[in-house]
Amino acid sequence: MSIISPQIIEDIKARNDIEHVVSSYITLKRAGSNYNGSCPFHSERTPSFTVFPSTQSFYCFGCGAGGDAITFVMRMENLDYITAVRTLAERSGVTIPESFSSNTNENDVSRQRVLEMNKEAARFFRNALFDTKYGKEAMDYLVNKRKLSTSVIKHFGLGFAPNSFGALHDHLKKLGYSDNEMVTAFLCGKGKNNTAYDYFRNRIMFPIIDVSGNVVAFGGRVMDNSEPKYLNTSDTPAFKKSKNLFALNYAKNHCENTMILCEGYMDVISLHAAGFENAVATLGTAITSEQARIFSRYTKKVVISYDSDQAGQRAADKAFKLLQEVGVDVKILKMEGAKDPDEYIKKFGAAKFNAIIDSSKTRFEFEMDKIISKYNINNVDEKVKASHELCKVIASFSSEIERELYSRKMSTFFDIPLSSIQKDVASIIRKRIREDKSRQQSELYRITSGIGDRVNPESASNIRANKIEEAIIGLMLLKVELLKECCDRLTQENFVTPFCKKVFESISSVYKEFGKFDIGYIQDEFTIEQISRITKMLAERERLSVNDKTTLDNLINSLTSESVKKEDSDSFDDILDAIKNKKRN
Ligand code: CTP
Ligand code: MN
Repeated sequence: MSIISPQIIEDIKARNDIEHVVSSYITLKRAGSNYNGSCPFHSERTPSFTVFPSTQSFYCFGCGAGGDAITFVMRMENLDYITAVRTLAERSGVTIPESFSSNTNENDVSRQRVLEMNKEAARFFRNALFDTKYGKEAMDYLVNKRKLSTSVIKHFGLGFAPNSFGALHDHLKKLGYSDNEMVTAFLCGKGKNNTAYDYFRNRIMFPIIDVSGNVVAFGGRVMDNSEPKYLNTSDTPAFKKSKNLFALNYAKNHCENTMILCEGYMDVISLHAAGFENAVATLGTAITSEQARIFSRYTKKVVISYDSDQAGQRAADKAFKLLQEVGVDVKILKMEGAKDPDEYIKKFGAAKFNAIIDSSKTRFEFEMDKIISKYNINNVDEKVKASHELCKVIASFSSEIERELYSRKMSTFFDIPLSSIQKDVASIIRKRIREDKSRQQSELYRITSGIGDRVNPESASNIRANKIEEAIIGLMLLKVELLKECCDRLTQENFVTPFCKKVFESISSVYKEFGKFDIGYIQDEFTIEQISRITKMLAERERLSVNDKTTLDNLINSLTSESVKKEDSDSFDDILDAIKNKKRN
């Protein structure tokens, strides 16, 4: 049972309609009594993400993510259950008692603890940098070699991790943090005999600060050419690399029209120092679709400002694609005579950088330039290859207007009839849609057939029974009268797979105590994947029109008849049948 009372959950959910919560993150379109949209949890061309207002739930038929408003916020913001509940409560003015903590297990370190520890660590690193004894070499490096002013160093909260295995550890210990907490926060590593030691040593420290001002992670750079050049905080209860951007805490106030996306921390710092306070960077990884969505929340246009080397230009392809998918206007900077924005600014100054921002290129121009420089289009064979590549680029634009305009440009430049280009582009699009569909189908097949099923491993050897169980649970979640019926007539012993047994037990015990049920009441008993599976059972029923008592009677009869439990011997044939049926469809 949830540690937050059902009444509070109900209040929060009543004030946070799932349609509204979801549409504050993504665009929804009405489809009958439901809403559809592009799934924020995986990349897709055809929207399979569905919101069901009647049951206040969402489910993606493409990737299987599902749940209610609380789960949605957990996934979107990477929060634990209690924090997601608090977030929704705050947004809608419901008060929930302070005493609820996320910790159910002593070994679990809460997000709050990690954030407090990070703040102390950032203070410790900063003091070390400004300490004339410990920090001299580091300060020298930043000021003389990297040309940063003290005010910029302070603005970004830069610091220095002393060359010691225990300086930070001992400091945090004095403040009352345990080894386990320090290791969880990624501030310490764990040695052979379980001793915690400082993870960042002899490095310049860059704190990563989220939009609420929390220090969520660190990047640490060496001061010479040794490897690895950077160490970064891995994922912790307070941080997910793929969902944060460096300097967004500042850039968020300067980015209504444009944001600049760089590769490195140093690029961002130089740009901010030169007045480009709308610059951000990913955190040591290629841009993810989650980060792309962050951009779409804050700005209309992104200028990709990656390093001018090959790796940087290749990374730009991915950034273009992901940013375009979330609907922001994307441009790329053409930087000549410098390896990265940091060097460019130092060499040519801010005015020149501003000029190259103004003349940055669209993806089409960028790709066309690349293709033209790769092939000799005076040679027929090479021209065919070049045309085919460019048609593929054109086909990847979702707007018909864009495709039309780019096709015309190509037609003029390559001297090829527009109609031929249009035909090629159309056939590439058809082929991609076919491929998308078959990929989605095989993925769904994998999920529904139970092969490699981590949530309910027993489903593969109990295919028929599991289908019935899932249908029954789906009906219980759909209609309160059917819920009552099931609780009266079934016990957990009737269920075959351990997962469905547990789900039934949770639902029925809530119903018996409160006379009603909501998935929000049991969310902290299940993982986010398990909640998705439970929502899938509901979503499958939402799709069907026969959800009456007769349907339930039949299902209950099937589940309670003995035969359903003895299917292990023929379950493999079931799998084969399912595969054959799939192929036929
Ligand atoms: N990075 C990393 N680990 C490495 C190298 C790089 O995590 N071993 C990440 C860092 O986030 C870094 C970014 O990739 O900021 C870009 O790398 P690079 O261009 O090498 O670093 P800069 O930050 O630009 O540093 P500098 O200008 O000092 O070389
Ligand atoms: Mn760099």
